[in-house]
Amino acid sequence: MGVPAPRALPDELAVALSRVAPRLGSIGREVIWYPDVSSTSDVAASLAEAGTGEGLLVIADMQTAGRGRLGRTWASPPGAGIYASIVFRPSPGTARLLTLAAGVAIAEGIAAATGLEPELKWPNDVHCQGRKLAGILAERGADHVVLGFGVNVLRAMYPPEVRARATSLELELGRSVDRALVLAECLAALAARYGDLNEGRDGAVMAAWRMRAASMLGRRVEWDVAGASQRGLAERVDDDGALLVRTESGLVRVISGEVRWIL
Ligand code: BTN
Repeated sequence: MGVPAPRALPDELAVALSRVAPRLGSIGREVIWYPDVSSTSDVAASLAEAGTGEGLLVIADMQTAGRGRLGRTWASPPGAGIYASIVFRPSPGTARLLTLAAGVAIAEGIAAATGLEPELKWPNDVHCQGRKLAGILAERGADHVVLGFGVNVLRAMYPPEVRARATSLELELGRSVDRALVLAECLAALAARYGDLNEGRDGAVMAAWRMRAASMLGRRVEWDVAGASQRGLAERVDDDGALLVRTESGLVRVISGEVRWIL
């Protein structure tokens, strides 16, 4: 895929990123911005495959083919959310917990920018009282991971089916939100949690994850395996990030996919 020509970074983004620059590590060493693009993760993956260095950040004001986990689409209307992807080149040890760490970081970035304290739903959905606020898509290449994240900022512009199970920063806070500040704080938190993993502080990442996911653990959940649904009690998350669910036939280790809360 050819990479479309980027445009100049809008001033408010440039200012917000420069304010957090000392906390960004390698993230944002190169920044590419589009008013609209198919998917920031597509662009990041193309550039990663072409050899770009760790930290490349691709941001868009809207996406025409935003992708979510499990083959879903990610509604990405203009100006209504944060759509960003970063190229990481993690060691195998760091890659193991990168998606969980990213969930923690996005929740922490939102908290730092707005005061809202989102929860996490395994593996890394960012929620407020059961409604999805932000999502993370980690896609592995041969020698890189593209980590894309989307945060719902405005509410009104999402399609009705998204509105029913999603929430947004403005809806939760009842006020307008500085989108550039939220993006900048999410990136700074990502850099901090990536640093934790690189320096062997996996325990700190897992402790932060468990704290934010407390409301999910101990609850009944359902998930699909080969077309059939299984049920059990979400007990805990192990040190590799797998969800351990107590079922009638014993403790099951869920390593991928999606679990649903049973009310
Ligand atoms: C999820 O399903 O929860 C993950 C959603 C990830 C959406 C983001 S928006 C920026 C990046 N580009 C995409 O196409 N997807 C991710």
